Amino acid sequence: MRRWSGKGLGLAGRVGLAAVALLLSRAVVHAQSVDANEPIAERGRYLAVAADCAACHTAPGGGKPFAGGYGIASPLGAIYSTNITPSRDFGIGTYSEAQFGRALREGIRGDGAHLYPAMPYTSYTKLTDADVHALYVYFMTDVKPVEAPARRTVLPFPYNIRATMAVWNALFLDDRRFEPESGKSVAVNRGHYLAYALAHCDTCHTPRNVMMAEMGGRALGGASLSSWYAPNITSDPKSGLGGWSDDDLARYLKTGDVPGKAQAGGPMAEAVEHSLQYLNDDDIRAIVAYIKQVPAIADAADKAPRDTYGKPSDREAAYRGLDARALVRGERLFTGECAACHRPTGTGSPDGYYPQLFHNTAVGAARPDNLISTILMGVRREVGGHTVYMPGFGSGSYVDSLSDQDIADISTYVEQQFGNPAVRVSAEEVTLIRTGGPKPLIARLGAFAVPGMIAGVLMLAGAALLVLRRVGKKP
Ligand code: HEC
Ligand code: HEC
Ligand code: HEC
Repeated sequence: MRRWSGKGLGLAGRVGLAAVALLLSRAVVHAQSVDANEPIAERGRYLAVAADCAACHTAPGGGKPFAGGYGIASPLGAIYSTNITPSRDFGIGTYSEAQFGRALREGIRGDGAHLYPAMPYTSYTKLTDADVHALYVYFMTDVKPVEAPARRTVLPFPYNIRATMAVWNALFLDDRRFEPESGKSVAVNRGHYLAYALAHCDTCHTPRNVMMAEMGGRALGGASLSSWYAPNITSDPKSGLGGWSDDDLARYLKTGDVPGKAQAGGPMAEAVEHSLQYLNDDDIRAIVAYIKQVPAIADAADKAPRDTYGKPSDREAAYRGLDARALVRGERLFTGECAACHRPTGTGSPDGYYPQLFHNTAVGAARPDNLISTILMGVRREVGGHTVYMPGFGSGSYVDSLSDQDIADISTYVEQQFGNPAVRVSAEEVTLIRTGGPKPLIARLGAFAVPGMIAGVLMLAGAALLVLRRVGKKP
């Protein structure tokens, strides 16, 4: 089960009242590139990958594709995804295309009941009719029916009253299809559609207000995701991706690795692994075109682009002659735990499999979250059949498990030597990141923690409203 940790609530508390701003800033755009010769079901399959339907609708540990039963933790209990295979008894075999469309875009099930927003209809609401049609054809014709019920969602009263969602949809669901923005190129519009309606970059990279609605005014400006931090990816030259070439960004989305710049770990590695790597080059280019023109958001804490900090260490020669005890604690630990792969100089391996640590966004960023999380949880990313793997030092598998103080000392050394010298890491910070969720849960934390969290907050507030209304009706 994927789970949002307590720190997520801190996230909710962190943000202001921009729900209204979000509701008002309805930039509605839409674009599509339909190849008339492409079979509709094929196109639907592609869209299902771009929207990552399987990730949520397949139970972990070998569940049948789309048979449901995947638990998305909310503060109120697990919300299980349903069987969306065309089984007439257990899945959506009896759904008409109109019913399917309502489930995707309005969050209303075939029987008229409201879905919890753990199903991201708030994103899919932007899907075009043509894409809903293609998805429908794919699910009805190409997906194998699974004749088994998915695990039922049982939430305690009053959250089990699905009608509470109607109140919240009225407030938060901007039930509108994407429409192309005039004055923007076809590629930018297509990229906007892909980034928001399908790949939902915003769910991770845009900060949220107390109601867990995205802050429209800070779109893609960077947000905390439990133990990870989804960085600012606006066009700002220092805080964002202004200095990235189109090729760099395309390569990052396709592979998660741009040597001398950035590697994708945590939830971003999952997005690349399960979805983005399968997008065709035109669509990757479209996302790049869109992302590169997102209005800049600057953060005063960023003095230089995070991929420009640091240089190789010249201490390698020194290591040979030096008594290890003479090294500062962080350097000694780095030598023992990290240098075998990343080299004492921090230059990594010549083939780039072990990346360099200087000119590396996780190390150069003004916040050490992604460096600490990488040390705690490691990296595992499978792209094009190849796996990159760095072990996590958080819970001692076959590598040493390091204490919070160890990780703080290593991080501070790495920051001073290869990264942002303004950043010093304390054991308390490491504890915070470590308890952002216990390791095995965080390791699997993906896009779905966010919708789970939204669902929880919405239901809590919905229930509160209901109770208030009842109290209000008493004579
Ligand atoms: C972030 C996780 C997530 C993703 C991604 C996701 N779903 Fe869902 N979906 C859910 C959950 C959870 C439910 C059940 C919610 C509930 O019980 O209220 C659900 C319910 C549904 C239902 C209602 C079925 C029924 O009768 O109960 C349909 C249809 C559906 N999803 C289709 C899709 C399609 C198609 C995609 C991809 C375009 C998709 N979902 C992507 C989580 C997800
Ligand atoms: C599930 C959450 C999630 C989604 C969805 C997501 N990202 Fe990310 N993204 C992250 C996290 C977390 C990182 C930091 C990863 C790291 O440093 O290892 C990141 C890193 C990045 C980076 C590298 C930035 C840097 O400075 O290293 C880029 C570029 C990026 N994302 C673009 C995108 C785009 C474009 C999309 C949509 C197509 C997207 N992301 C979707 C969570 C997400
Ligand atoms: C067994 C080899 C190995 C060891 C030991 C190792 N790493 Fe890594 N490291 C890797 C690999 C492989 C990657 C991922 C490369 C990729 O994503 O393409 C990586 C990635 C990284 C990144 C970039 C991650 C990101 O999200 O941007 C950092 C920073 C890092 N390692 C720091 C460390 C530190 C600090 C230590 C010691 C505590 C360490 N590594 C130990 C192999 C290793």
